[in-house]
Amino acid sequence: MDADDKRKELQRRHLEAEEGGGKERIERQHKAGKLTARERIHQLLDENTFEEIDKFVVHRCTHLGMEKKKIPGDGVITGYGKIEGRLVYLFSQDFTVFGGSLSETYAAKICKIQDLAMKMGAPVIGFNDSGGARIQEGVVSLAGYADIFLRNTLASGVIPQISAIMGPCAGGAVYSPALTDFTFMVHKTSYMFITGPDVLKAVTQEEVTKSELGGATTHTTISGVAHFAAQSEEECLSQIRELLSFLPSNNMEDPPYQESADDPDRVDPQLDELVPSDPNQPYDIKELIVSVMDEHQFFEVQPKFAENIVVGFARLNGFPVGIVANQPAVLAGTLDINSSLKAARFVRFCDCFNIPLITFEDVPGFLPGIRQEHGGIIRSGAKLLYAFAEATVPKITVITRKAYGGAYCVMASKHLRTDVNYAFPTAEIAVMGPQGAVEILYRKELEESSDPEKFKQEKVEEFRKTYANPYIAAERGYVDEIIEPRQTRTKLIRALEMTANKRDTNPPKKHGNIPL
Ligand code: HXC
Repeated sequence: MDADDKRKELQRRHLEAEEGGGKERIERQHKAGKLTARERIHQLLDENTFEEIDKFVVHRCTHLGMEKKKIPGDGVITGYGKIEGRLVYLFSQDFTVFGGSLSETYAAKICKIQDLAMKMGAPVIGFNDSGGARIQEGVVSLAGYADIFLRNTLASGVIPQISAIMGPCAGGAVYSPALTDFTFMVHKTSYMFITGPDVLKAVTQEEVTKSELGGATTHTTISGVAHFAAQSEEECLSQIRELLSFLPSNNMEDPPYQESADDPDRVDPQLDELVPSDPNQPYDIKELIVSVMDEHQFFEVQPKFAENIVVGFARLNGFPVGIVANQPAVLAGTLDINSSLKAARFVRFCDCFNIPLITFEDVPGFLPGIRQEHGGIIRSGAKLLYAFAEATVPKITVITRKAYGGAYCVMASKHLRTDVNYAFPTAEIAVMGPQGAVEILYRKELEESSDPEKFKQEKVEEFRKTYANPYIAAERGYVDEIIEPRQTRTKLIRALEMTANKRDTNPPKKHGNIPL
């Protein structure tokens, strides 16, 4: 064999690997509305930056005729490339090869990528499109999954980990995405569940479609397992690129600065009218967020799950921030189990990756109810409290209206080491709202009064004047400054600049015991 033959041999092998499961299966993939594993990688990355690793790896299984069926790459494409010029590692499961099912060598390829990403300090993005454990490999395949789960866990908080579900993801295979920081799904083509509809029907007699059980809508609105749902794979890939633009490559880096043309001293007089004078009237907190952030851009995370709290990323004067905001337009902005879980996980993510936290607070309290109590609102609320208290990144809070009871403490209050606490003049900071307070404090008088309604209204007004304002907290220094709403952007940017070199730590320990 001369050099030319050797070159041709290499090219032939490349082509063979790139064909995956063959033209027919690729066509089937396209007909199902899906890109191939390779197309996903190329569309996600900056042009011509993908470097593949382990392209010629094959499985070692010798059962059930598998020794005669070997496809180079073995059903997963792995490697590294660039997004906006920054290094990322990827693995992309290839459904056209043995249904994307996971073998021993396939798992080893993913682990190699995870190990490299940890050493180099760069994010890992995984495309999931697989029939799960490769049945022919038995326990060896299960071991491969566990090897990946271990690395997911060790990498947590060190490098960002992103999962995109682009097809089936079932059984124990769901636990790798569940361990990562953000999960993306695509409507109609992706689903995730522990046990599929057929098993469910046999075991529990429940009848449900795949999509109802574990489609993108289900996981981004009901379960909260996934964070983003896209209408197409192309949209999903662009969402991943956008998310990464806010994140540092690892926990030792600062999040990426992006020059902004937006004036840091821009005021918005309309904000003075945002909070209605009637304390029971709702308003949309996203109007405040969008008004204040650079170029009015807000990248919301889990927009359709637990909508009574809003979380997401934006920039202030070019610097990424994480936003947590009660949403008075949904359930009056109360904290319930799901909103506590959603916000707690987001706060911890930001804290892991040096992303300052901006909290907008308008919370009348925790949602009352038997379902909430029996569902463990105490434990869930404690998670959010723990997350805010534990966070050592810069923390800035703006109380726009209600800050009542335990929820006042939880929502990044001064007492949880928040660096700067602002309040609007419309803020009401008290143990509870005037109505509830009067009903408790004056129960006897109300029973004895000849005109209880009038008496109650008078007392409510009195309570509102005395307690439901920001000045008592300001007198104590629990609120640093009462600001005009129109100044919010300027104030936040100055506070953020002031906290830029913040160094704070927690006591040395193996790890805390967050109330899971
Ligand atoms: C080996 C598999 C496979 C698997 C699919 N294939 N799943 N091969 N192991 N787990 C192969 C098929 O034989 C077929 O090969 C090709 O992939 C495409 O599969 P189809 O069934 O033709 O495709 P489709 O009709 O689209 O159905 C996709 C599917 C179905 C829903 C994923 O294949 C399926 O139910 N597979 C089994 C899923 C499963 O039970 N996995 C184990 C789950 S438990 P050919 O050669 O015909 O193209 C698990 C545990 C993980 O994963 C534990 C972690 C701790």
